[in-house]
Amino acid sequence: MSQPISLAIEGDIAVITIDSPPVNAISAAIRRGLLSITRELAGNSKVKAVLLHCAGRTFVAGADISEFGGVMAPPELRNVLTEFELLPQPIVVALHGTALGGGVELALAGHYRIADSGARLGFPEITLGIVPGAVGTQRLPRLIGAEQALQMFLDGKPVGAEDAKKLGLVDEVVTGGDLKTAALAYAKQLVADGKGPRRVRDMPVTPISEERLAQIRAQAAKQHKGVITPELDIAAVRASWELPFEKGLAVERAISDGSLQTPESRAQRHLFFAEREVAHVPGIGANDKPRTIAACGIIGSGTMGGGIAMAFANADIQVVLIDVDQAALDRGLATIRKNYDSSVKRGRLTAADVEKRMQMIKASTDYADLAQVDLTIEAVFEDMALKRKIFTDLDRVMKPGAILATNTSTLDINQIAAVTKRPADVVGLHFFSPANVMRLLEIVRTDTTSNEVIATAFALAKKLKKVGVLSKVCFGFIGNRMMEPYGREAERLVLEGATPAQVDGALERFGMAMGILAVYDMAGVDVGVKAHKANPDQVPQDDPTYYRSSQVLFDQGWLGQKTGKGYYRYEAGSRERHTHDEALRLLADEGKRLGIARSEPISDAEIIERCVYSMINEGARILEEGVALRPGDIDTVYTAGYGFARFRGGPMFYADEIGLDTVLAALRKHGEGRNARDFKPARLLQELAEKGSTFAAWHAAQENRT
Ligand code: 3HC
Ligand code: NAI
Repeated sequence: MSQPISLAIEGDIAVITIDSPPVNAISAAIRRGLLSITRELAGNSKVKAVLLHCAGRTFVAGADISEFGGVMAPPELRNVLTEFELLPQPIVVALHGTALGGGVELALAGHYRIADSGARLGFPEITLGIVPGAVGTQRLPRLIGAEQALQMFLDGKPVGAEDAKKLGLVDEVVTGGDLKTAALAYAKQLVADGKGPRRVRDMPVTPISEERLAQIRAQAAKQHKGVITPELDIAAVRASWELPFEKGLAVERAISDGSLQTPESRAQRHLFFAEREVAHVPGIGANDKPRTIAACGIIGSGTMGGGIAMAFANADIQVVLIDVDQAALDRGLATIRKNYDSSVKRGRLTAADVEKRMQMIKASTDYADLAQVDLTIEAVFEDMALKRKIFTDLDRVMKPGAILATNTSTLDINQIAAVTKRPADVVGLHFFSPANVMRLLEIVRTDTTSNEVIATAFALAKKLKKVGVLSKVCFGFIGNRMMEPYGREAERLVLEGATPAQVDGALERFGMAMGILAVYDMAGVDVGVKAHKANPDQVPQDDPTYYRSSQVLFDQGWLGQKTGKGYYRYEAGSRERHTHDEALRLLADEGKRLGIARSEPISDAEIIERCVYSMINEGARILEEGVALRPGDIDTVYTAGYGFARFRGGPMFYADEIGLDTVLAALRKHGEGRNARDFKPARLLQELAEKGSTFAAWHAAQENRT
């Protein structure tokens, strides 16, 4: 195996190569290697310039995140970079691929930066709940100005090479040709011109005015709710103009090291790895080659079919969109165009982009047009007989090897697969609304789905820029199944005397993007009522309090935003929530009638315990039954698809953080008396809590066994 970092002398140029697949993350070995190479070069007067570049698909994509949280082996990257920057020879850094976090900090310690035109440079640390810690907060403001630097830290998104050049972050952009050759030529020219080091540490900083800083702070607080990282970034960057370099460095060290210890950072680092682990499915390996998906059929051009069509067109995959008649298709296409047009208005797409994407979608009423597609996703009404009929037809017209998928939310996909002659090629692809926006894709494996089809579904999710999570077939799969107890308790709480604003307020303060009752109003109160009516076996028929409050609103025709009244009242054309007094009165009366109205106030803590802990309990059952592969898969579902705060790490991680004994005790407390059945602790939760263990430890033990 090649060394993760190596040195070669080419003429009078020292070439340092980092070669540590897959993404050249800076590990202890690289830190040690760079330090020793730096010391070697410091005393080598024959070397006139230094070139640092990376092998493989990318420049350094950051520090090795797996080392965070524990005691890091010396030397510290910040100290290595200090020595590196002080080398007497000019240092050229050549960047390609994605230079991120510690990768850009490494480049900033060099003296000249040259980038491939496809390179992207950024600081994603904020998405991990941490502050850059290898002197980025002190060097970047010196190089590109404090305001631009702070914006890069707060934004977290990378910029392209050309934009980086405009910012002054890179000196040269190489278009076409070999980057290393161009960088070597650049280094030789520096030597020929007698140019020496140009150290960022020696540059002055343009500060940010207090007034402007207040605006940036307000904007960041809106963009990153509930986390302290933006404030920490501001404090670190402030030090760059208020203090000399060395003192600023000490401030960054304290802030950055502290940020690694926060719960929000633990949570977000957990999600980083969880989102990558989801695609590793036991039993599926390199032999299960994903099939090519170049063209996709979609049946149904309604809410979901239209959004799915957009997701495919956005990923440059041809779509054949089918509906019952031309009128339905015209409606579907008009909605797609309207959605695209609103992206143009917001500056996210050009008119030409929209035309290109609309061209990718061919509308048809004829199944014969599906003969050559590689995959068809059915998104018609939620009706088993209809879906079985459609799958029979699809099986007849689609070519051998093509995949048949359904977007059903609740139906048993095994029964749908059974009508085809190719049950191994049938899979659930459960998108979330709006399907062109939401990142989550539940990949639902039936009893017969082949490994190859699952591998294809994961590859497809990546192509669509979504995160695929595997679920077994069960009512509601992972996500909606866990929403059941969560919504059940929210609905009960409003009958007991909490207001919708209080329930949603507590959930939103906890970190949900939107409280569940506001979600009902947005999706339509009728959706849940009808789903419960259509699935009586999933609803206890002997409990009149169960999902009763939505029924009360439904009976009045208060269906939420679309009727202007639901749990809240809405002014025409606005989504702002107002108190809906009539609903409050009716719900209170219903609570009294059912004998569950309470006189004492209901606390935020009770709301969280009853809603969120119930959801965790169902998550434990999902793990027990093997419906989800791992706790991290559930966390990914909830943060990518249900607005669960990333700074909480997802429901299962959150449960581990607060202690499973805490969750168990609360379930037992709320399960006293008439709610015993609903709060019955899952076996797995109980066992782990009693042992003082965690879902994470349980998962690690499972992994070791296999
Ligand atoms: N540390 C450790 N492992 C990393 C890593 C990192 N910084 N970046 C990626 N990996 C691992 C992934 O876990 C994955 O492992 P797996 O194959 O075992 O699942 C593998 O590398 C490939 O990663 P992806 O599946 O994400 O590959 P993509 O090609 O889709 O994306 C990427 C590549 C854009 C570089 C993406 O991996 C990425 O965004 N990485 C994270 C970058 C990041 O956050 N860097 C900042 C780190 S913090 C830091 O640098 C602090 C500093 O101030 C000191
Ligand atoms: P919708 O009512 O908006 O659209 C259904 C479309 O299917 C309509 O355009 C209709 O004309 C068409 N259609 C009906 N029968 C057809 C047939 N025989 N052939 C071709 N087209 C036919 O429904 P929506 O909301 O898009 O739901 C579709 C599916 O997606 C359902 O199974 C639903 O459970 C599921 N789903 C819905 C979500 C949502 O948020 N709306 C989320 C995830 C899944």
